[in-house]
Amino acid sequence: MKLNHCHNFADFRKLAKRRLPAPIFHYIDGAADDEVTYRRNTEAYESVDLVPNVLQGTDSIDMSVEVMGQKLAMPLYCAPTALQRLFHHEGERAVAKAATQYGTMFGVSSLATVAVEEIADIAPGPKLFQFYFHKDRGLNDALVERAKAASFNVLALTVDTITGGNRERDLRTGFTSPPKLTPSSALSFATHPAWAWNFFTGEKFDMPHLSGHVREGTNVAVSVGEYFSTMLDPTMSWADAEKLRAQWGGEFALKGIMSVEDAKRAVDIGCTGIMVSNHGGRQLDGSRAPFDQLAEICDAVGDQVDVICEGGIQRGTHVLKALSMGAKAVSGGRLYLYALAASGQAGVERALGNFRTEIERDMRLMGVKRIDELNRGNLRWR
Ligand code: LAC
Repeated sequence: MKLNHCHNFADFRKLAKRRLPAPIFHYIDGAADDEVTYRRNTEAYESVDLVPNVLQGTDSIDMSVEVMGQKLAMPLYCAPTALQRLFHHEGERAVAKAATQYGTMFGVSSLATVAVEEIADIAPGPKLFQFYFHKDRGLNDALVERAKAASFNVLALTVDTITGGNRERDLRTGFTSPPKLTPSSALSFATHPAWAWNFFTGEKFDMPHLSGHVREGTNVAVSVGEYFSTMLDPTMSWADAEKLRAQWGGEFALKGIMSVEDAKRAVDIGCTGIMVSNHGGRQLDGSRAPFDQLAEICDAVGDQVDVICEGGIQRGTHVLKALSMGAKAVSGGRLYLYALAASGQAGVERALGNFRTEIERDMRLMGVKRIDELNRGNLRWR
């Protein structure tokens, strides 16, 4: 299969599986425990149906939205994800350029493999920095200062990772950052020579936001679960979040809010956005899907804070359902990561292009010209 045969999420996933050594593919593809929540994140979209209106004379379609002060040409953006140069040698550069091309936002992780300064140089559009609250306070301060100096527009504090999720596929494959050479990983590298050539002969692996402060993840191989459990601060509190918001001083979001109570507290501490998210099912298995929680959260705080629905999105119709329910935008990781692994920047561009085409077609079929015409009247529960 080739890139121009990738028409949907499943196609990109198939191609990524072929291109990546197994431990790396399963790091992206896997989730916590029995992966019930991971599956539910997408299945949740089937619990409501779209109800179209016809004869609306939909000529030109405007799918732009404004989220946390950022104008996005489409209502979907690339959620921050870690370690992108492991998936494709272009890594974060590819995602930054593709998102810029499509006029949408993208996130850069604290655990990224390209530095915020370089990203800022190649991507003038809206950018989000994903902050992980470390035990090392010097590292935390450096992350804020670097993202600020690089003119990132939004800081998102991840609040669902105070300990590592139980990612059993990673335990089985032995996936670590940086990747370890073991007899079985060596075999999977050898059977994916294009990936191995790029990884072993190209730019040295690094996580430039972290490597000046901690050895884990760059010089000492650890799993992502171990990194969360040992390096991040499990005592992180609402007071810490509020202090970070003040230190940042700009658009600020909590990423990983699932309850109405927490959504209200996010408003109280001055957040301008929240990502309703369970970290792609990678942390607490058995937790509810973002789409299932969206209505009650939007009812409680939707007029005070921008609510973003994150995770499980695989289709334009999923986007329309989340926006009809009250989200201002949607985001996801795997929805562009398989495409990145499959073909770098060209892959991410194709994935975003497919979404744009689907969203536009689905808006026409729904009889709406603008995103703000979508509302719960367009939805029925099964
Ligand atoms: C993960 C982190 C790094 O889920 O976001 O693997």
